[in-house]
Amino acid sequence: MADFDLIVIGAGPGGYVCAIHAAQLGLKVACVEGRETLGGTCLNVGCIPSKALLNATHQLHEVHENFEKMGLMGGAPKVDWKKMQAYKQDVVNGNTKGIEFLFKKNKVTWLKGWASIPEAGKVKVGDEVHGAKNIVIATGSEAASLPGVEVDEEVIVTSTGALALGKIPKSVVVIGAGVIGLEMGSVYKRLGAEVTVVEYLDAITPGMDGEVAKSFQKILTKQGFKFILGAAVQKAEKGKGGATVTYKLRKDDSEHTLEAEVVLVATGRKPFTDGLGLAELGVELEKRGQVKIDGHWATNVKGIYAIGDAVVGPMLAHKAEDEGMAVAEVIAGKHGHVNYGVIPGVIYTTPEVASVGQTEEQLKAEGRAYKVGKFPFMGNARAKAVFQAEGFVKLLADKETDRVLGCHIIGPGAGDLIHEICVAMEFGASAQDVALTCHAHPTYSEAVREAALACGDGAIHA
Ligand code: NAI
Repeated sequence: MADFDLIVIGAGPGGYVCAIHAAQLGLKVACVEGRETLGGTCLNVGCIPSKALLNATHQLHEVHENFEKMGLMGGAPKVDWKKMQAYKQDVVNGNTKGIEFLFKKNKVTWLKGWASIPEAGKVKVGDEVHGAKNIVIATGSEAASLPGVEVDEEVIVTSTGALALGKIPKSVVVIGAGVIGLEMGSVYKRLGAEVTVVEYLDAITPGMDGEVAKSFQKILTKQGFKFILGAAVQKAEKGKGGATVTYKLRKDDSEHTLEAEVVLVATGRKPFTDGLGLAELGVELEKRGQVKIDGHWATNVKGIYAIGDAVVGPMLAHKAEDEGMAVAEVIAGKHGHVNYGVIPGVIYTTPEVASVGQTEEQLKAEGRAYKVGKFPFMGNARAKAVFQAEGFVKLLADKETDRVLGCHIIGPGAGDLIHEICVAMEFGASAQDVALTCHAHPTYSEAVREAALACGDGAIHA
């Protein structure tokens, strides 16, 4: 029953970052979270646990594929699934506890429970109503449902169930060749499962630069993934020992079925705003259910803001974090800003895939004059030394001004390499600026420099 300058609803990456930053700026802040632990979907059942499983299974893959080549003999280790799950949980716990510590350090009050907004300026948690000069809705998203597919989180699962299966399945059908499907598909593929991905479109990873998507599909196919593209899933039904997925091929409308021990539904996510009372408050929503905001993350109701997966834009933790920081600044009377043109996207498979800025398809559609600088990791000594020479860096720059417009990387460390280009783009750099920057040898980052050189007089090692 306290009064706060700001109450943030939701302690995911958007909400907790917003709360901490607002406290740093001198506001009296509370953050409402109904889960037992802080961190939201990302830390509890998303980005972080999946990275732990991706790490463990990547190591296993290395043992199988590369150890003998390096003279490391002795065969593959036995997988203890329970222990791997415990390791995953330890990673999660360490991170969620870390946020609890940061809340204490920054004097952010954690209001435990599920919030509703009975009226502007008030937040109800359990039986208590708190005063809030400002409210930020940071309630995130939930898995979108698919007609004809009933999730039980054991046999037919979303990413949440896929992270905590009781045992390693022999076969998995993944519905949707997006980020979740390919990351979790990689985990189970490396653990020995047969993985078949059924995708509605004719390419994997919609929105990604076409050339990268093609190369990515080839590499995953080599790793043993099976892809059925142009296929609309009609239903998934639980049966003895698994489930049956029925899909229709779009080219001829023919119907087919697939059996698997586990079916992962990874067909996108939708904003989660249940129980807040937004309709009663008159908060306007977009057609697809996101909270409608202006350029300062303000809703149409004074004093109520929204960020992250609950609003339009890519459903990415780091986009939510940036919005959290920016809206905290706005509420504190400063000038929060997010550059939506420079938000990187990363897929944490092996190899990693990362991109920022425009794709070649987007530039073509805009009729923009551009040039392409490409460099294969095959020409990068470090990548070859670690058996990760597949993939390439593709840099797109304006044909006239040489200004960097986008970058798409498939290869080792792509998720870290991309940030060099994010910084370059923030500073309005040209491809030549990147090319003239000294890059340490031998590093993967040399491939980025070579791609920049390829936008000019040419790469050296290609
Ligand atoms: P997504 O939007 O990335 O991919 C969903 C895929 O399902 C699309 O390719 C779509 O064409 C396909 N699809 C839809 N309906 C279908 C049907 N009936 N039959 C066959 N295919 C169908 O969604 P995803 O992978 O579920 O991820 C959700 C969100 O979480 C995304 O916004 C993603 O960016 C985010 N995320 C990000 C991660 C990262 O940054 N590494 C990791 C995991 C999730």
